[in-house]
Amino acid sequence: MEKTLRILILEDVPADAKLMERELRKEGMRFSSKRVETKEAFQKELMDFDPDLILGDYRLPSFDGLSALEIAREKRPKVPFIFISGSIGEELAIEALKKGATDHVFKERLSRLVPAVNRALREVEERSDREHLQIQLSQAQKLESIGQLAAGIAHEINTPIQYVGDNTRFLQGCQKEIFSLIEKYRHFLRSAKEGEVSQAVISELEKAESDVDFEYLFQEVPKAIQQSLEGVDRVAKIVRAMKEFSHPGIKEKTAVDINKAIETTITIARNEWKYVSEMMTDLDPSLPLVLCLPDDFNQVILNIIVNAAHAIARVVGDGSKGKGTITVKTKSEDNWVEVRISDTGTGIPEEIRGRIFDPFFTTKEVGKGTGQGLTISHSIIVKKHGGTLTFETEEGKGTTFIIRLPVEPKTD
Ligand SMILES: Nc1ncnc2c1ncn2[C@@H]1O[C@H](COP(=O)(O)OP(=O)(O)OP(=O)(O)O)[C@@H](O)[C@H]1O
Ligand SMILES: [Mg+2]
Repeated sequence: MEKTLRILILEDVPADAKLMERELRKEGMRFSSKRVETKEAFQKELMDFDPDLILGDYRLPSFDGLSALEIAREKRPKVPFIFISGSIGEELAIEALKKGATDHVFKERLSRLVPAVNRALREVEERSDREHLQIQLSQAQKLESIGQLAAGIAHEINTPIQYVGDNTRFLQGCQKEIFSLIEKYRHFLRSAKEGEVSQAVISELEKAESDVDFEYLFQEVPKAIQQSLEGVDRVAKIVRAMKEFSHPGIKEKTAVDINKAIETTITIARNEWKYVSEMMTDLDPSLPLVLCLPDDFNQVILNIIVNAAHAIARVVGDGSKGKGTITVKTKSEDNWVEVRISDTGTGIPEEIRGRIFDPFFTTKEVGKGTGQGLTISHSIIVKKHGGTLTFETEEGKGTTFIIRLPVEPKTD
């Protein structure tokens, strides 16, 4: 069903407004319109009448088209504004387009009005479709990355749990053998006490001993215990990291140990980088605590590490023929803390260096990236923390992202 358009007409000559309306009706367009000619009326109807389209003249007795355009752009940025005028200078027309006018139609050539209106409305529709799609996409991406992270963590926990299980079952088997042997020794001791160690008891014990491979037990039991403890430690570390990562709702800046936050995030994201890269850290122990939003800071580190791993994967493939390296360094100077995250990945080609922070800019295939990581990171570091986020890169060598944070950001 076609909806009725609301058209606001800024025009002091009623006959001219009628001409426009007639032109639109001639083409079967359904609309209701309102004509205004003063600034006050224009401002009022912009809100009250809430038009889908504005048609405006440049010159009015008490108002002018360009000022109207400015007001409309501010109050109703999405509503197309088409100028309808007699002959005007080219400069004025260009200025209008620069200021955001949608189109320009001469009064003498009103037959162009309908195509211009149709095009303008189509653009609005396309834009809103696009925005809608982008929102959906970013929502899906968020869910997907949570899913991926959860799957990664499950995998991380699964491996140590598995060998803790295997080792414990092995120890259970050993325990049976050892206990039965101890039983034989006790029997032997009892007989010895009673002074009647028969040949039968001795040979029974000898047989039991030879059934048990002592050499093997001495070697393997301590190893199994050691490995199990390591596995348990590993799980405990992951759980601790997850807890810190998801620390609920600290929305105020708190004094954060940046080195610890980085180590936590590296652990959480292990599954994202370990197949393609080694991880090196060089964390300055004298780093002061930094007043910041820990969740947001972790998110930035995560985004940059994932990007680094992707860039390395494009060089080393699945990592089976050698891995790349991600290096995370921290240092402090004056009242700033600097974090440098370097990778031995592809580097960033010159042509796209100016765009990597743009929303939705991505070079990755669908499903792998939506181009939001760096946009979000930039906004977190620069807007929320008064810091800087920059990069150095060389094609074929790699990239370093540099985060600088003021130790005590200016309060905003
Ligand atoms: N370390 C890097 N090495 C090479 N290119 C990079 C690196 N980091 C970012 N880029 C480039 O910048 C683009 C934008 O990065 P960004 O993190 O904003 O989005 P994405 O990784 O593509 O998607 P998302 O982060 O939303 O999953 C990437 O697609 C990639 O082309
Ligand atoms: Mg990214």
